[in-house]
Amino acid sequence: MFLTGTMKINNTGHLEIGGIDVLHLVKDYGSPLWVIDEQGFRDNCRSFRDAFLNYGDTMVLYASKSLCCLSICRIIDEEGLGLDVVSGGELYTALQAGFPADRIYFHGNNKSREELNMALEAGVGRIVVDNFYELELLNNLSREKGLITDILLRITPGVEAHTHEYIKTGQIDSKFGFTLTDGQAWEAVKRALQCPGLFLQGLHCHIGSQIFEPESFQHTIELMIEFMKKIKAETGYELAELDLGGGFGIYYAPGDLPPTTEKWAEVIINHVKAQAEKAGLKMPRVIIEPGRALISPAGVTLYTIGSSKEVTGIRKYIAVDGGMNDNPRPALYNARHSAIIANKAQLAADETVSVAGKCCESGDMLIWDVALPQAEAGDILAVFATGAYTYSMSSNYNRQPRPAMVLVNQGNADVIIERETYKDLIRNDRIPGRLKK
Ligand code: LLP
Repeated sequence: MFLTGTMKINNTGHLEIGGIDVLHLVKDYGSPLWVIDEQGFRDNCRSFRDAFLNYGDTMVLYASKSLCCLSICRIIDEEGLGLDVVSGGELYTALQAGFPADRIYFHGNNKSREELNMALEAGVGRIVVDNFYELELLNNLSREKGLITDILLRITPGVEAHTHEYIKTGQIDSKFGFTLTDGQAWEAVKRALQCPGLFLQGLHCHIGSQIFEPESFQHTIELMIEFMKKIKAETGYELAELDLGGGFGIYYAPGDLPPTTEKWAEVIINHVKAQAEKAGLKMPRVIIEPGRALISPAGVTLYTIGSSKEVTGIRKYIAVDGGMNDNPRPALYNARHSAIIANKAQLAADETVSVAGKCCESGDMLIWDVALPQAEAGDILAVFATGAYTYSMSSNYNRQPRPAMVLVNQGNADVIIERETYKDLIRNDRIPGRLKK
């Protein structure tokens, strides 16, 4: 269901999150507004951490690409998780938040020399090497600094998860990682083992996002363990870590049936155990990298409804004061989201409408065909499961300032990302002398 964590309908018939009526949030912090349910987010972190810890030496990394800002990094640290970063910017944010560098894993298919240097100087826990160029560059940088850097190799196992084309990554024809099937991955292992500046801790893979089928992970585990077995047989070297990436699906809309966290842990760990045993390997430390499953259900976007338009006999559009600027997912991936009118949460949803954003694009539609109570200008639309890949993928298209983000908990609300102003929009604009008035 879309009401998760502390979300409920209060006795005035309004949506409440973290003990606060969301209408008060809009009044105090403006619209549109990203709201994060702190307790819900922490519970999701604990649920993954504990479910996997239950099975021994495991580690859960939060994929910060889903939502990265100082406060979120702080919470992840407090909850004892590690952090997956994929750029100098995410790494910088984590370090500024005081996140312990040794629990950071650094990903990316084209890390620059500067980014790698930054990671080495910070002392990140692992660098996940994606390609031969990076392998050589990192080895040289490590040697220049007199370091031996712990790495994982990113492997492309050739598993096609059932998900949207743009968010699946494990298939052979992918820009990421060393391909398993054509000998590249094997070549990468041999070279990594010869690099004096690098220490190969293990392997990494990531097969895609919004995955519901445990079989996709099982199949991946089989391929990865088989490869680890070959590595041991041919080099005598036994890898300590197996990082299976993220991609754990969540509920967005009817029809989405994600397995429970306990189920994921059980299926994944038991399968690694069984396969490792069969292969004569000791149990590697299993690492997972959920992003969406931790933060998305804890996020709600509040919009104010404005204009509406009826196309006779076809559909009714209602427009909100945000759109693809603050949530590009529907436009990019045909992603679905659930919504209610937060101030009419107890009224019957007896009208089917489509929710439009305010960008100058026909494709700027947030939700097609959603049942809502009769909507009027000034109503507050709450769109659910928007914690992940909304702020982190937001833009200023049409020169719209980004909304604020508030963290709510037990009746308290705190701004964790300020609303952008029109002034922010021109902050980096420059006028050359010849254009000056
Ligand atoms: N680890 C790696 C190496 C990844 O590439 C990703 C996501 C994750 C972990 C976290 O995946 P999650 O658990 O959040 O599904 N913007 C798209 C999703 C792109 C995911 C990219 N990589 C969306 O809005 O659906």
